[in-house]
Amino acid sequence: MRLEGKVAVITGAGSGMGRSMANLFAAEGAKVVAAEWNQATLDEVVAEVTEAGGQITGVQGDVSKPEDCARIVQAAVDAYGTLDVLCNNAGVMDNFAGAGDFSDDMLSRVMGVNAYGPLYLTREALKVMLPKGAGSIVNTASAAGEHGGAAGVVYTMSKHACVGLTRNTAWYYAKQGIRCNAMIVGGVNTNIMASVDPSKINAAGAEKAGIYGGIIPNFLQPIDVANLALFLASDESKMVNGANIAVDGGWGAA
Ligand SMILES: NC(=O)c1ccc[n+]([C@@H]2O[C@H](COP(=O)([O-])OP(=O)(O)OC[C@H]3O[C@@H](n4cnc5c(N)ncnc54)[C@H](O)[C@@H]3O)[C@@H](O)[C@H]2O)c1
Repeated sequence: MRLEGKVAVITGAGSGMGRSMANLFAAEGAKVVAAEWNQATLDEVVAEVTEAGGQITGVQGDVSKPEDCARIVQAAVDAYGTLDVLCNNAGVMDNFAGAGDFSDDMLSRVMGVNAYGPLYLTREALKVMLPKGAGSIVNTASAAGEHGGAAGVVYTMSKHACVGLTRNTAWYYAKQGIRCNAMIVGGVNTNIMASVDPSKINAAGAEKAGIYGGIIPNFLQPIDVANLALFLASDESKMVNGANIAVDGGWGAA
């Protein structure tokens, strides 16, 4: 088993890629701490993994709140005694607005979940990982972390921030046994659009993102991303650090 005995926190584990990671990691021998804002989907993933014979603990929390991030990492320590892997995966979409018409609410929500959340959780995780000189942090970034045409300004900023967090953390702690990598994820069949109020979609921005999205050669399933996360979480990738690896079916090659 590729994650035998490792303790992994996965955020946004109730849906999409996070749920796929929770199932895959548990099947590969990890003790999973599923962190999720939505209690109903959290209960579902905990039941699913348990029924399949995996080890999982659920913790309800909002990753945009520093106190919840501290609680999430503490839940791993309380349940399993340590933390080896942190998957910063929870995320929300914006409404495709540009810099001329984004709302302050959207800015604080999307940056809070997609950028500040991974930073708060990384700080908490390092408190456990640094003393033992080991840890792998896997950030779910996006094509919007490297390109300008995939979303609105706020989501694009948030995923560029996620890439910056990845590079700085990788460099800063490389000699202390900590690895940090990001997945540059393409278009995946998940529930992410449920995080945006359809009545607030910016039509002009959505049309622009549609032009860029229109060249996606292949849509992915959550398991395609979970498979990369598994490699990055495991010791197989022990010399992969600070990488931004595309899992996008070739979209970024265009
Ligand atoms: N779907 C795509 O095409 C795509 C592409 C590139 C990157 N991504 C990124 O992939 C990641 C996973 O998204 P997904 O597509 O699986 O979407 P999803 O909506 O299916 O899953 C995201 C999960 O995160 C949870 N969540 C949202 N805010 C939270 C918070 N504050 N605290 C804790 N949990 C929270 C949601 O409840 C949900 O269960 C996100 O970071 C997203 O930005 C998605």
